[in-house]
Amino acid sequence: MDEQVTALTDTFGRKHDYLRISLTERCNMRCFYCMPEEGIPLRPREEFMRQEELLSIAGTFVSMGVRKIRLTGGEPLVRRDAAEIIEGLSKLPVELAITTNGVLVDRFIDVFQRSGLRNVNVSLDSLDAERMHRIARRDHFEQIMANIRLLMREGFDVKVNVVLIRGTNEDEIGDFVQWTAQENINVRFIEFMPFDGNKWDWSKGISLQEVLDTVGERFGAGNIERMIDGPHDTAKHYRINGHKGTFAVISTVTNPFCDSCNRLRLTADGRMKNCLFSGTETDLLQAYRKGEDITALIRDTVLHKKKARGGMETMEEFRKPENHAGNRAMQTIGG
Ligand code: GTP
Ligand code: 5AD
Ligand code: SF4
Repeated sequence: MDEQVTALTDTFGRKHDYLRISLTERCNMRCFYCMPEEGIPLRPREEFMRQEELLSIAGTFVSMGVRKIRLTGGEPLVRRDAAEIIEGLSKLPVELAITTNGVLVDRFIDVFQRSGLRNVNVSLDSLDAERMHRIARRDHFEQIMANIRLLMREGFDVKVNVVLIRGTNEDEIGDFVQWTAQENINVRFIEFMPFDGNKWDWSKGISLQEVLDTVGERFGAGNIERMIDGPHDTAKHYRINGHKGTFAVISTVTNPFCDSCNRLRLTADGRMKNCLFSGTETDLLQAYRKGEDITALIRDTVLHKKKARGGMETMEEFRKPENHAGNRAMQTIGG
């Protein structure tokens, strides 16, 4: 077997070839389930990876077998040197992707195209401008919609992420699916997940099954076609008969997909996380600055990866807020 591939294989035989890099903790929106209204305390700049450090650390992951890099945030495009980072990463032999709130996308279309970045996930929790304003505490709805249309016109692979929260937007499931009738778009409903400090409570969550029931009532259960998912997909995909686009559900809470996980994470302050829900982190940046070899640290962090959800395998364990206290807030992980 290729040694470079085995370097990122964990004790459960999962090969990791997908790295999610958070470019910044900052964001130009304040979605209530993710960011406090006042934002987050600004930390000294030297605590974060500089551009050269980020590119070099990313290069090490690539030399160990990473083949896909997704940029996340906060909002990745608010970082001042985001364009240079994207161009720098495009020189590595990887598929580049980004998850964004969509607000600044029009300013980056050229950079995406030049860098071969084709895969753009946009977060949008409502199709109603007023409601979106209440959720995000910022009024950018028209800009986001215009940018989603721009991305589709330019032929990007666009996915729309909708975090479903009871009492907030579950009444729009049908309208989001209706959007897929005429547009070749992939709408993904996400089960609300617990992170440190986000006041999570599963009674506010909408499960995969509830989404399917709701879609069935509107479009007819017999018209929901289950599609074949990719080997490492977080989402279970469906299509309504005759619709151009698809919808999907990311069911971390009710149907975790950890068996096929291929993801590693690097935070903006240079820590490696082996799972979205890991309670521990490895400080790669500090080691890098001391001139240490970080490949051994990366390998060791992969070997410590737990079987599922950072060790919270059962719903009971996952539900306890104290089990999330070792993890970070969502905006500093990047999802
Ligand atoms: P692709 O598979 O590359 O399309 O992207 P993605 O679905 O991994 O990325 P995206 O950033 O759009 O994330 C969508 C949702 O999936 C977010 O709520 C993420 O937090 C969640 N998610 C992403 N990666 C993981 C993961 O490894 N585990 C779990 N449980 N959820 C994840
Ligand atoms: N649960 C599920 N998804 C979340 N996101 C942010 N917070 C949560 C949460 N608590 C989503 C964002 C974005 C993606 C990276 O993660 O909406 O689309
Ligand atoms: Fe991978 Fe952890 Fe997400 Fe499961 S919860 S899919 S192990 S990152």
